[in-house]
Amino acid sequence: MRVVSGIQPTGNLHLGNYLGAIKNWVKMQEEAECFFFLADLHAITVPNEPAALSANTREMAAALIASGVDPDKSTLFNQARVSGHAELAWMLFCSTPLGWLDRMTQFKEKSGKHKQRASMGLYSYPVLQAADVLIYQATHVPVGDDQKQHLELARDIASKFNGDSGQDIFTLPEAYINGPAARVMSLRDGSAKMSKSDPSDLSRINLSDDDDMISKKIKKARTDAEVLPSEIEGLEGRAEARNLVNIYAAITDKSTDAILAEHAGKGFGDFKPALIDAMISTLSPIRERFIALKSDDKMLDAILEKGAKKAQEEAQKTVESTYKALGLLRN
Ligand code: TRP
Repeated sequence: MRVVSGIQPTGNLHLGNYLGAIKNWVKMQEEAECFFFLADLHAITVPNEPAALSANTREMAAALIASGVDPDKSTLFNQARVSGHAELAWMLFCSTPLGWLDRMTQFKEKSGKHKQRASMGLYSYPVLQAADVLIYQATHVPVGDDQKQHLELARDIASKFNGDSGQDIFTLPEAYINGPAARVMSLRDGSAKMSKSDPSDLSRINLSDDDDMISKKIKKARTDAEVLPSEIEGLEGRAEARNLVNIYAAITDKSTDAILAEHAGKGFGDFKPALIDAMISTLSPIRERFIALKSDDKMLDAILEKGAKKAQEEAQKTVESTYKALGLLRN
């Protein structure tokens, strides 16, 4: 089993990034050979600030490593350091019908009303993503709901290329499901996702927040006056209450049912301190490693460079056979 996954290097990392994606990576590396990368080439499909991109790429790498992604177990790198991603993407562009891209819902959402002003990069984003996984002959790709369509496209692109060339150049990757990724919502509004761009810092737990700040934010988190139910159904229409229960479940690796069984009948005055304890015991060692690593650019670059070297070796095999299959002359 070979897993490939990428994450866009956003800055201001928070609990939503950790529970939504990073924690799953840490689990996956125990179960499969993993290639994990920072999708910096994808990040430039929208207006780019170069200094912020470099800083965010390193910061995301620091967060991954601090959270338990082990560069000795997994191959960890940034996409731009492995030239094959862009090369293979070009070759795949040339065999991907425009009609397939016209169906991609994420482009429609991201380009909004100004489709003509969106970049070609944004439009072809899913083809680069296909190259990302096909280049390593991934057998499995972890997918949240928003990425299912992209994985389907990668499979279609791979099987068309294999068919056109009459050769088995690419492995068709399958979805890797390891439990639902937690959807962490704002602490101020249970209907909005926890986000780095929310103007209220009280809406999120940042990976750099210290224990007192975590405690303060959870105490201030919006809830309701009812007690916790014994069944999930009892959280219906109580988005803020449900969010705190979900966070507790995700952070302690327990099911929502188990959490409710433990806390049914208790109010938030009892529940919040337990949640705060669980969060602090998980997040404080991560924060300490994160802060130490974040300021060590040299160390981070060395780790990413080493990962890229390993990745490049694998990538090159697929890139060369693709060039060859197309009749392109190479040394
Ligand atoms: N598009 C993904 C996201 O925003 C990131 C990504 C880029 C990715 N390439 C990938 C994910 C390849 C999985 C496999 O979350």
